[in-house]
Amino acid sequence: MRKLTLGIVLLLGFSSTVAAEADIAAGQAKSAICGACHGADGNSMIGLFPKLAGQNVRYLVKQMEDIKSGDRAIPEMTGQLDAYTDQDMENVAAYFASQTIKLGKAKPELVALGEQLYRAGSKRKAVSACTACHSPTGSGNAPAGFPSLKGQHAEYTAGQLKAFRSEKRHNDADKVMRNNAELLSDKDIEALASYISGLR
Ligand code: HEC
Ligand code: HEC
Repeated sequence: MRKLTLGIVLLLGFSSTVAAEADIAAGQAKSAICGACHGADGNSMIGLFPKLAGQNVRYLVKQMEDIKSGDRAIPEMTGQLDAYTDQDMENVAAYFASQTIKLGKAKPELVALGEQLYRAGSKRKAVSACTACHSPTGSGNAPAGFPSLKGQHAEYTAGQLKAFRSEKRHNDADKVMRNNAELLSDKDIEALASYISGLR
């Protein structure tokens, strides 16, 4: 009986924490303006606007914080997050995370190089295998906040890899991405981005 009571207390305690952490319905309501570029369900129609559907909460919240603070400069989003509280970010992130990403299709002629770089990195250039942090299926690592990459628009992914390479994007802790991207050629980036768009 004691065990049972404890179980119920823990269960109630847990569910009320979850409710306080994120409210998906409130997040959906708050995200209406975001849908104009990212798609109402997080599946944007434009290659340069990232899909947010199915992305993990921790990564989404970190990006919103970085965009709001200016650590990650996104002119299209200037001012959009100014009125967002931490709770709004959690809610909107939970909403997009609950959606399903629509996968793309890799260009057949780029699969071999893309797959090789993604799975094995490049010994010649000391590029780490992407699988180590983004997982073999491209789903990322939600507890660690490493982003899911699978199904993302190739145009957006290529743009990010080039931005890390030039250090225009520099919000990656310990330069994890800048260190890898600086060694990638344009051809490598094109192949990786295409491969990732069809990854599943
Ligand atoms: C006018 C278009 C536009 C609107 C509206 C917009 N965004 Fe964005 N957003 C962008 C662009 C463009 C990028 C990527 C820029 C880049 O780095 O190339 C981006 C990037 C992001 C990212 C990072 C995604 C990733 O994979 O790293 C998040 C998170 C995000 N937006 C959330 C939001 C939220 C939440 C809203 C609503 C408050 C919103 N955006 C409204 C254009 C927009
Ligand atoms: C040691 C771990 C690690 C490795 C290895 C790694 N990444 Fe990442 N990657 C990250 C982290 C962490 C982020 C998020 C950085 C941030 O906070 O903005 C990221 C971000 C990205 C993004 C931006 C995603 C978005 O939605 O904007 C892309 C694209 C990416 N990585 C591709 C790759 C590719 C391709 C490789 C292999 C060549 C690779 N990564 C290897 C950890 C890693």
